[in-house]
Amino acid sequence: MTQGSSVLSGGRMHSPQSPAEPCVMVIFGASGDLTKRLLVPALYNLACDGLLPDQFAIAGVAMDEFTTESFREKMSHDVRQFSTRKEFDAETWDWLCSRIYYTPGKFDDDAAFARLAELVAQLDQQYQTSGNVLFYMATPPSVFGLISDSLDKAGFKTSSDGWKRIIVEKPFGTDLPSALALNREILKYWTEDQIYRIDHYLGKETVQNIIAFRFSNGMFEPLWNRNFVDHIQFSVAEAVGVEGRGAYYDKSGVLRDMMQNHMFQMLAYLCMEPPISFAPEAVRNEKSKVLEAVRIMDADAVRANTVRGQYGPGSTADGKAVPGYREEPSVPPNSNTETFAAVKLFIDNWRWLGVPIYLRSGKRLWKRGTEIVVQLKNPPDVVFRGTPVESLEPNRLIFHIQPDQGIELRFQAKTPGPEMALQSVNMRFDYSQAFTASRAVGYEVLIYNCMNGDATLFSRTDLVETAWRIAQPMLDAWKNEPADFPNYAAGSWGPKPAFELIERDGRKWVELLNRESLARVPLFEGADPVLLASLIMALKPVVFQPGDEVVRRGEIGRELYLISRGEVDVTDATGAVLATLGEGNFFGEISLLTSAPRNATVRAKSHCDLFVLEKSDFARVLRDRPHFLKTIMEIAQGRYNVSADEVLSDHAAAHAESHSA
Ligand code: BG6
Repeated sequence: MTQGSSVLSGGRMHSPQSPAEPCVMVIFGASGDLTKRLLVPALYNLACDGLLPDQFAIAGVAMDEFTTESFREKMSHDVRQFSTRKEFDAETWDWLCSRIYYTPGKFDDDAAFARLAELVAQLDQQYQTSGNVLFYMATPPSVFGLISDSLDKAGFKTSSDGWKRIIVEKPFGTDLPSALALNREILKYWTEDQIYRIDHYLGKETVQNIIAFRFSNGMFEPLWNRNFVDHIQFSVAEAVGVEGRGAYYDKSGVLRDMMQNHMFQMLAYLCMEPPISFAPEAVRNEKSKVLEAVRIMDADAVRANTVRGQYGPGSTADGKAVPGYREEPSVPPNSNTETFAAVKLFIDNWRWLGVPIYLRSGKRLWKRGTEIVVQLKNPPDVVFRGTPVESLEPNRLIFHIQPDQGIELRFQAKTPGPEMALQSVNMRFDYSQAFTASRAVGYEVLIYNCMNGDATLFSRTDLVETAWRIAQPMLDAWKNEPADFPNYAAGSWGPKPAFELIERDGRKWVELLNRESLARVPLFEGADPVLLASLIMALKPVVFQPGDEVVRRGEIGRELYLISRGEVDVTDATGAVLATLGEGNFFGEISLLTSAPRNATVRAKSHCDLFVLEKSDFARVLRDRPHFLKTIMEIAQGRYNVSADEVLSDHAAAHAESHSA
């Protein structure tokens, strides 16, 4: 086996630009979805970038009765649909397509495997692939053992020199016992250095960049520990539902589908100790160590530190009505499978002891977005005593994994003017502006690295098992406790208890807004980019359930609320409903404009996702933008008959007060 180095490592033996090692790639399950959507487009991208060698061929195997010719036709059609490149390069595709072969067969059919052996031997001769064979299991894990056994019987291991490697797809088990059994079965046929377990998150540039960023920049590593980091958040939000995969998903749920694998892998990259090099085992050893340090929960800890959710009916961001999870095809109407989870973990090691790590992921949320937020501890704010600065916003380092790709640092800066006032601002690196690489499917780097014998980005037996050890107590506790599902509406921010989980600790999820979503709020229509940018950092998310009181009549208000989703009832002293406000609307402005107590109670009528704008941010926005003040005043006057003079004199008084404070 070549002692490899990944693209990530800058390459020791393989320059990132040199073609991978020769081989025949055998794809089991070649007529399935994975092959057409991801594998072939990834191979085509590698070919376009000159990263496949001339000594390369593909042998597809599946039960469907294709010939090589008809299979090539199908692939030629599919690749045009799933290619990620802007322009289709027919010449390169013809080069790759001419190397694709097909042989039909069942996975337990000895005769079919004998035919496959013949085909591979012939391709080895024809393409000079040095006896190297890469077996890609684009199949359910339940047949890994069967296929491995059939390959053994057909003499693949002994028939030629050259390396033999196997790529296996998730799920690597559905719990700890099944993962142990699956690993035992695979290890019966293959040695650890032949097994490449794919986690497609590790093929994402932005995930790989976590370690490049950490270890190539001296600036942050000294802060990367419990002395400076307050907490870390990992969020993977998906706007899609189960997309016709109800039968699979119902046996899985988000903990198995996203957290145990993709999210724990990201956690390991972000929190591991520096490896001594980027050699595969050096990196995997550190990942394994940090996962081993994650505190294993007992049933009480699961109850205290986790929240489950399942979506009910709702609507997508563009207003399309969508069914609840229990109404999805192939999902039982009483299913208790979680489509959302929020979890608080601790890593009990020298670096991270006591630093909470919050993870949350869900389907059918308000947007698609994967982000990691590293929140630093605040400095002492004593020096700001006697200034208008009421509190300090923490520094945040944000990794935007997808769909936005980049890194952002949020910090505070003085606002222009004679007084000492602060505003949150940011510095942001955007992949799309810094680099011009074509969009990839994420499998390119994984296939390329496997062909070069570089296992850095693949999961090892112990890593998989350790990740299941962390997840297992949650699976056990959840199985034994009934869930109150559905508990969030499709298209919302998720269940309220997920917000309470973090708010109990005096923290908040960082809900990452973008300009497009804010510009949809009527109040901000036509707002200048500077205002939008500052609102993006000032607005904080809160969630309410039907019947919850959001603001109470008679209280002095310190916040304005914007309704992102849902409806609220505005009620008077007798409880009579004065108005019902819906998406895009806002309330609470009156007690920010004047110092009068709130003159109405507002209750959530449905599940509500609200943005909060606090008084200090509000005052700043108003000071700098008189036209915004005018709009809000007009609305307030229309609603509550407040006179402009009253508002302006109150506002001036509040302003003067903050100056003299
Ligand atoms: C897969 C899960 O592993 O990852 C899917 O099975 C999920 O349910 C997908 O949608 C998410 O991947 P990505 O790359 O879109 O974030």
